[in-house]
Amino acid sequence: MTESYGWVPEGVDISVPDASRVYDYALGGVHNFAVDREFWHRAEKMFPTARLVARANRAFLGRAVRHLSELGVRQFLDIGSGIPTLGNVHEVAQEADPEARVMYVDIDPIAVQQSRSLLTGNPYARVIEADLRKPDGILYHPEVLDLFDFSEPVAVLTVAVLHFVPDGDDPVGLLHRLGEPLVSSSYLVISHLGPDATPEGREAQEQARRLYEKTPTPVVIRTREQVAALLDDSFELVEPGVVSATEWRPDPDESGDPPQPTALVALARKRNRDAGR
Ligand SMILES: C[S@@+](CC[C@H](N)C(=O)[O-])C[C@H]1O[C@@H](n2cnc3c(N)ncnc32)[C@H](O)[C@@H]1O
Repeated sequence: MTESYGWVPEGVDISVPDASRVYDYALGGVHNFAVDREFWHRAEKMFPTARLVARANRAFLGRAVRHLSELGVRQFLDIGSGIPTLGNVHEVAQEADPEARVMYVDIDPIAVQQSRSLLTGNPYARVIEADLRKPDGILYHPEVLDLFDFSEPVAVLTVAVLHFVPDGDDPVGLLHRLGEPLVSSSYLVISHLGPDATPEGREAQEQARRLYEKTPTPVVIRTREQVAALLDDSFELVEPGVVSATEWRPDPDESGDPPQPTALVALARKRNRDAGR
């Protein structure tokens, strides 16, 4: 690729589609390239509700952060945070409390750079480049230790990112490790790609999933039961359990939104035991 973009960090390969940029495009953002847009159009052709799924997921994220803020949570660790777009976690959390702390984490250098530039001048929101599959690199990151008080509740957000973690990378163990230092009244937020409701939909979704095999982050689709099984006994699922994003505490003006069974979401609470690192 011969194009050059001032905002692209050195060493980033923009000749292959990337999950953060594809999702940015799906939500109407501008930090994406021809290869991401073409990828998205192919996926959408196979799976026409893909954009609605992306929007339902994003709307869930906002509602979950608002709900947790109402429960008194003031620290948010947003892993797989993506390229900033509408309704970013710090905007929602700091509306409830301007001193709410938010640490964004992403593996994509462009997502990290765009977040950093958006957060300039915000003393309570930061971003680091790190990998969900290496939880100690997040928990022990100097910026995380500096920003968070682990004697207070923390919400760990894994929103539209666990489906990039195959079983071989032990997602159950990763979530357990991330939960270990958290005190009770801490929470884990999950959203995850699930199977479509109809055989035709599942076939179309399977074709779109195969497209992702060509990206650095192939996708794993998990059923409700498989998503619930990502949690070991250090977390308990909060009502309504694992449900479609549109069914999770919808705002009154969202009650007419079409159900999106492929966006599975859940909120879980850390069980009341002594925390320890
Ligand atoms: C679909 S976006 C979701 C963005 C945001 N959480 C949301 O739901 O609106 C998924 C993000 O996860 C990031 N990601 C994928 N694998 C990751 C990993 N192992 N560690 C950290 N981030 C990862 C991608 O770079 C991308 O920005």
